[in-house]
Amino acid sequence: MPNIDQYIEANAARFEEELCEFLRIPSVSADAALRDDMQRAAEWVAEQFRRLKLTPEIIPTSGHPMVYAETPTVAGAPTALVYGHYDVQPSDPLEKWTTPPFEPTRRDGNIVARGATDDKGQLLTHLKSLEAWMNVEGRLPINLKFIIEGEEEVGSHGLEKFLAEHSDRLACDCVVISDGSQFAPGVPAVTYGLRGIAYYELHVIGPNRDLHSGSFGGSVTNPANALAMILGGLIDKDSRVTIPGFYDDVVPLSDRERKEMAALPFDEKEFYEQIGVDGAIGEAGYTALERRWARPTFDVCGIWGGYQGEGAKTVLPSMAAAKFSFRLVPNQDPAKVSAGLKTCLAELCPPGVKTELIDCHGAPGVLVPLDSPYVEAAARAIEHAFGRRPVFTREGGSIPIVTTFHQRLGADALLIGWGQDDDNTHSPNEKFSLADFHRGIKASAKLWEELSKL
Ligand code: BES
Ligand code: ZN
Repeated sequence: MPNIDQYIEANAARFEEELCEFLRIPSVSADAALRDDMQRAAEWVAEQFRRLKLTPEIIPTSGHPMVYAETPTVAGAPTALVYGHYDVQPSDPLEKWTTPPFEPTRRDGNIVARGATDDKGQLLTHLKSLEAWMNVEGRLPINLKFIIEGEEEVGSHGLEKFLAEHSDRLACDCVVISDGSQFAPGVPAVTYGLRGIAYYELHVIGPNRDLHSGSFGGSVTNPANALAMILGGLIDKDSRVTIPGFYDDVVPLSDRERKEMAALPFDEKEFYEQIGVDGAIGEAGYTALERRWARPTFDVCGIWGGYQGEGAKTVLPSMAAAKFSFRLVPNQDPAKVSAGLKTCLAELCPPGVKTELIDCHGAPGVLVPLDSPYVEAAARAIEHAFGRRPVFTREGGSIPIVTTFHQRLGADALLIGWGQDDDNTHSPNEKFSLADFHRGIKASAKLWEELSKL
């Protein structure tokens, strides 16, 4: 390994430059106007493999393309599948960025750009560890397959379909994913749980045109009022979701897990201070960490309708709408949530308006066993690069495809995120620590060696 570590150190500056190049491509999967940039980002990833004399494939989907590559066969060695995504979230609100989202900038030891941590920077650590092995040793000690998709942030529909039809191509012993966070600066983590999600858009439609709110207010159901009532009706005063049966399948936290979470160095007061609030409402009886990692929730992600311009306009809007999601925990089924939600909406919708519900995407939560030799290998690799053993954490976010990997490939995921909670994921001024970028590359390179010993 010393030669490989040396290679990684000697090439650190170029790796950063390449990360910047990748980050300059505005690969926002949700934005149909950026289709060409999605293709460009896929090409950029493919080129990384071509330079190492591998033969990547750009696999088209009904949405954005995926990039697949594999290393030359090492007989008798395990096979790891590296998963990552080159798509990023929309960058708005633009005016809140200190520097433009697709002009990566170094600041305070971080690289700031949309996609820096989620997931271009993290994904690149595995491409660069591959490069280090290929250029130093001429080969890897194990078999690696890479599947890098462009639709993670919009539900992974193309990869889902690919796995349903060609799962044999992705056959592996374990899946390696860096698309999450460490526990805290200097406290690396292996993540053993992710929340699931059920995401919707709801339109509340009322009169056939906007109306004068004085002339008509009170006699006509206001769609914006109705929307507020409906959304408000989906949770109770204890922040519990009101959909009938919603909690039936929730795997409860064991006493042991609650103890372990409580033992993590997490300061609630500091957590809220950092976000700039003085506290929060949430499900009664649970700590902030438990609510984030292991309890289901309801959140409105966007809401609109009526006049948004300057000054006051007395108008009764003809429609209002919202985007919202339920974060789910292991064993909850997004399809059941959809069915329950429809029943709820029928009851909550007042006369005079009608609702239209769009079911955007859903994915179940994940729990991966910690007692595997792969987890131990990852812990050793992380210790090598980060100088301390990882703690074991769950995450509140979702990586929809992880469950499908388990179902279709029978392989568990090694979730080894290199980010930090304050990386501003999905938010303005997204960042990724450059030191963690380089440590991530080292940990990844070491992981291939550790896995080869199994
Ligand atoms: N990288 C995140 C998931 C994540 C976030 C893991 C924080 C761990 C900590 C991922 O790219 C993501 O944001 N996923 C979406 C999935 C959704 C669009 C289906 C999410 O969780 O909102
Ligand atoms: Zn991500």
